[in-house]
Amino acid sequence: MPFENSKDFEKVVALLLTKAGWTVKLPPANTKGYDIEASKGGEVVAIQVKNYKAPVRVPQLAQFLEFLDLPIAARFTRGFFITSSGFSQPALTYFAQEQHPKARLAVIKDKEGKVEWISRGHGTPPPPPRREPLYLGVFTSKGGVGKTTVSAHLAGAFALSGYDVALIDLDPQKNLTTLLGEGIKLPGSKTRPGSTVTIYNANEWEPDNPFDEKIIVCDCSPVFEKNPRELVERFSYCLIPTTLNPLGLNKNGYVIRQTLELIRRFNKTAYLFVLINNYFEDETRRSDVLKEQYHRYFAELSQHDSRFKFIDPDEVAIRNSRQLFYWGYHIYNGEANQLAFNSIGGRCLPKTDFLNLLDYLEAHSTIADLKQS
Ligand SMILES: Nc1ncnc2c1ncn2[C@@H]1O[C@H](COP(=O)(O)OP(=O)(O)O)[C@@H](O)[C@H]1O
Ligand SMILES: [Mg+2]
Repeated sequence: MPFENSKDFEKVVALLLTKAGWTVKLPPANTKGYDIEASKGGEVVAIQVKNYKAPVRVPQLAQFLEFLDLPIAARFTRGFFITSSGFSQPALTYFAQEQHPKARLAVIKDKEGKVEWISRGHGTPPPPPRREPLYLGVFTSKGGVGKTTVSAHLAGAFALSGYDVALIDLDPQKNLTTLLGEGIKLPGSKTRPGSTVTIYNANEWEPDNPFDEKIIVCDCSPVFEKNPRELVERFSYCLIPTTLNPLGLNKNGYVIRQTLELIRRFNKTAYLFVLINNYFEDETRRSDVLKEQYHRYFAELSQHDSRFKFIDPDEVAIRNSRQLFYWGYHIYNGEANQLAFNSIGGRCLPKTDFLNLLDYLEAHSTIADLKQS
């Protein structure tokens, strides 16, 4: 950690502001949302400072942007998020996407106090190049849990981050192909061309003649046998979407156990993540009870399989949203193929959640190492 503790870092930031002519005020203890208030001329700025070992991730940044939109924050003309450890790549993508009118990001790495401002989104760094393709599967041995929704938007989150993605539709129902046709292009920025998500079917892939895309997401068939073995063998990750409700757990976690066993038949090394889809944030009481059940059921599986993990929905979940519920409406109103990434009222739950998922995958696995390969 660049600074001993958060208070040290806060002091350094306050000192720098004072030197630059700002009037610095500390809010009452336990004030939520910001750590320092600074004013100069007509500006009143809410400043959040974070001194972690890890870079700032999507949820922390999302929380700050949400704070800036609250009525109690209306008196602030701007909001600065200042960290000593930088921002994760998905967090930078999120910032670029949101284009929040008040927010600015900065990094202060050492006591010298050199301030690096992150440009307003257009200059986010390109993703590291990849030599080897990365295969991600989305599989649950059950229909209607969100496999297609998750595959498409996970691919979309990679594309927002600057990768071209191949999305393979392995389900004989061909929902992906119906919804996205041949694929989509996501817009780029002033400094970077947009990225593509291209849809393929299983027999268009062959091991000796790989696609140009280096990220390959597979929307699997719930009937395990329908998924080509040579694809399943290549998964580095597999997301197992499920819902946080009594039926999602199915009394004894049977579906998830079965899913795990099926994947392990062909693939012993992939990281497997149970991901809660269709999550209701405002159901804390019932969610807490169910979460405890889920944790209990899956703790045992994790003990036998160190690469199997239940993602706590407080960290990452795909929230229930109208955007995802009505995703695909474009096929009825003649609009172009698209993902549910359009903001409504300035916010877009799916975009935040899927970038958060990328952040999580990077932090909990070897994705960062894989990038170098
Ligand atoms: N997070 C969500 N919020 C709202 N609706 C969702 C969400 N995830 C999925 N859905 C809806 O649930 C249904 C099933 O999702 P789908 O992705 O087709 O599941 P699967 O591919 O596993 O059969 C679809 O109608 C989809 O629009
Ligand atoms: Mg499907």
